[in-house]
Amino acid sequence: MQPDFEKLALTGWYPGHMLKAGRQMQAKLALIDLVVQLLDARMPSRSRNPAFEAAFGDKPRLVVFNKADLADPAATRRWEDKLRAAGEPALFLDAHTGGGVGRLLPLVRDTWEEVRCQRGTVRPMLRPLRLLIAGIPNVGKSTLVNRLAQRHKAAVGPKPGVTRQVQWIPLQGGVELLDSPGVIWPRIADKETELCLGLIGSIHDSVLGEELLAECLWWRLRREAAVNWPLYALTACPENVDGLLHAVAVRRGHLLPGGGIHRRQAAVDLIQDYRAGRLGRFTFDAPDAT
Ligand code: G4P
Repeated sequence: MQPDFEKLALTGWYPGHMLKAGRQMQAKLALIDLVVQLLDARMPSRSRNPAFEAAFGDKPRLVVFNKADLADPAATRRWEDKLRAAGEPALFLDAHTGGGVGRLLPLVRDTWEEVRCQRGTVRPMLRPLRLLIAGIPNVGKSTLVNRLAQRHKAAVGPKPGVTRQVQWIPLQGGVELLDSPGVIWPRIADKETELCLGLIGSIHDSVLGEELLAECLWWRLRREAAVNWPLYALTACPENVDGLLHAVAVRRGHLLPGGGIHRRQAAVDLIQDYRAGRLGRFTFDAPDAT
């Protein structure tokens, strides 16, 4: 049976620290020349916040996509084609291993030169170009900051809204990076978007509930051709989420006496397997749909 996610109310969750993060972000904007807006390659549309983009004002910005290692490579290529056709840069990164990160600073410099050219600025810039990385929670902002700063011990974590104190990190090519990513609250247009943002960890699991997230994931995976179903000793997508959670529970030993399962624990494992890429690589926003 098709789940009707839209019948479920939006949680309306907007934690106080996000309001604070928004204010801090506005204060940071005054200090910087260019914003790198980091999106999630698995959801290039849903991880964007158009309302926030408006709040950037005329601040030059560059949009890049992280976690490309978890996204469907074919869909990424279609996104790249679409972005290039629109005259936008198409940089897909894997901040975890560093894939593509080397292309970021040259792109930042090119974008900045273009901006200066459009503004008719001819004087050489005598100070470093100041950069801020911003994005919704959990897209990998801290990981990218650490990667660029070549730090390997990181204050990264799955908790939405983790940020650090303000400091400038000198990078190559006369660029300085604000050592504190800007946090943008995700734009939650409808229930399915809220659930998708939950799947990528931008909203706390406890807000939406792991079992509902698991149902959303099952619903999305059943449309995917290349899912690693053998992970749960399956050959195809089960008919419903219960079938899937049952298979996960059997495989992982989340069984109750009498034949029942620890449903929530199975849901937690399923979501973790998805987030770690163990089920395969998926892109849940189609480039053609936007
Ligand atoms: P944020 O600042 O935007 O909130 O995100 P953060 O850097 O804290 O990263 C969130 C999680 O995403 C971290 O995993 C991080 O390692 C992971 N991550 C960041 N970039 C990439 C990427 O390009 N690919 C993949 N696969 N993962 C990425 P974690 O499980 O919370 O922490 P850890 O176990 O890696 O330490």
